[in-house]
Amino acid sequence: MWNQQTKELMMRIGVTRETKPGETRVAATPGTVRQLIGLGFEVVIEAGAGVNSDFGDEAYAQAGAAIGTAEAAWGADLVFRVNAPEISEVERLKEGAKLVAPLAPAVKGDLLSVLAARKVDAFAMDAVPRISRAQSLDILSSQANIAGYRAVIEAAHHFGRFFTGQVTAAGKVPPAKVLVAGAGVAGLAAIGSASALGAIVRATDPRPEVADQVKSLGGEYLPVDIEVEKSTDGYARATSEAYDKRAAEIYSEQAADVDIVITTALIPGRPAPKLITSADIASMRPGSVVVDMATAQGGNVEGSVKDQVVTTANGVTIIGYTDLPARLPAQSSQLYGANLVNLMKLLAPGKDGQVTLDLDDAVQRGLTVVHRGEVLWPPPPVQVSAAPAAAAPAASPQQQPEKKLSPGAKRALVSAGALSLFLLNAFAPSQITQHVTVLALAVVVGFYVIGQVHHALHTPLMSVTNAISGIVLVGALLQLTVTDNAVIVLAGVATLLASINIFGGFAVTRRMLTMFRKA
Ligand code: NAI
Repeated sequence: MWNQQTKELMMRIGVTRETKPGETRVAATPGTVRQLIGLGFEVVIEAGAGVNSDFGDEAYAQAGAAIGTAEAAWGADLVFRVNAPEISEVERLKEGAKLVAPLAPAVKGDLLSVLAARKVDAFAMDAVPRISRAQSLDILSSQANIAGYRAVIEAAHHFGRFFTGQVTAAGKVPPAKVLVAGAGVAGLAAIGSASALGAIVRATDPRPEVADQVKSLGGEYLPVDIEVEKSTDGYARATSEAYDKRAAEIYSEQAADVDIVITTALIPGRPAPKLITSADIASMRPGSVVVDMATAQGGNVEGSVKDQVVTTANGVTIIGYTDLPARLPAQSSQLYGANLVNLMKLLAPGKDGQVTLDLDDAVQRGLTVVHRGEVLWPPPPVQVSAAPAAAAPAASPQQQPEKKLSPGAKRALVSAGALSLFLLNAFAPSQITQHVTVLALAVVVGFYVIGQVHHALHTPLMSVTNAISGIVLVGALLQLTVTDNAVIVLAGVATLLASINIFGGFAVTRRMLTMFRKA
């Protein structure tokens, strides 16, 4: 039933003022309004919707939006929101409308049923599958990235020292040490921000594949060295008891050493794992700061309180904010709005203000949680290649082609080579013997030297071969003047081959340089 494409006329997008207390973000900015209009939609903004993100009504009007009442925005064909509506707010949507918002479909089954009863098609922005094609619509990533940055800023605000080390006239200041637990989107953003501020950053994560990313952002990956189940969908699997035990030892060692701890550990659909114990906190120095980003899921830190800042008896500040993206409202709204524009590009490819929903497409199916009065959650699982591809199974001995020469064949080959050398030395003029010896040595040395060069070094190797080709070219050009036709032909061939190598090398180098050139 859901396999056919459904095409309907969609004209007006409504952007409402957020009703959740403390929310500062808005689902469209003047910039994204312009893009939505470019896709053929009309946009109505509820008056004052962007005021907390520093986007005034005038800016929206200049971008081409109509400024309207709450009823006009809620009553649009397509309603954009930063937060899910309350159940009591669903009746503000018109029947048959489409709602775009994070809807927590795994836990808000009752909201989905109410939306289905009102025949509202609902697109849950927090249900976008974590595949590379869908990254541009992934609000969890765009907001977690901002949250990771802001977590570092909050920590820096409460920490009474520099992050960076300094040598001043008054004395030497050591750099702060930061531990980030969980190197997903938020964790990586925190690692990058803390190391950019000059801190020494260490990170843990049960997915060893993040080690390179941690390193590239200036952090040090602390491996737990206990095997964990491989991820196939971009998210971690539950960790084993043995893993948790070893990890707990690492956290205890680190807590006593570092100044700042930022925790972001989460396995979707589960309560947040408790990583930092009260004993760990008690071992931290006074003035240290802990940011628990997962308090909305129960918290990674013993003693953290959702949306509160608490100070322990030993002077450690524990921050449990759940609204970190909303603390950078203009930035968060801009990226959130861009995610929604990317969704509309997918849903309205004709740029004619019409939504074409293709439920055969894994991304569109994944985020469509209610369609034509039916709840479509959960979607079929989407397999992605987050884990490194499994190594191809080793071929059985019977399947493996016999590459090695048999001992008999080897003996025959060596004997033939020795006989040829003997005959050459015995009968050929001495000049030819010399040349053949040099050639044979060059082949053997070249084979072993070049064969051992790592792939990454093939470019510098190319310059060496270019230099050799230059010498060959000079020699061949000198030989072109002799009268012997055979020599002239050989010299001509050598000139041609050496020129191909030299000019080919220049062409490849030029292509590589253009890859690094700014447009
Ligand atoms: P993510 O799924 O990208 O990253 C979570 C990371 O935790 C993964 O890399 C996973 O491997 C790791 N992890 C799982 N179990 C672990 C364990 N036992 N020890 C160490 N690491 C473990 O999630 P994302 O988007 O980075 O979000 C992280 C957390 O931040 C979530 O709890 C999310 O709700 C929260 N968040 C909080 C915000 C706030 O304002 N406080 C805003 C945005 C996100």
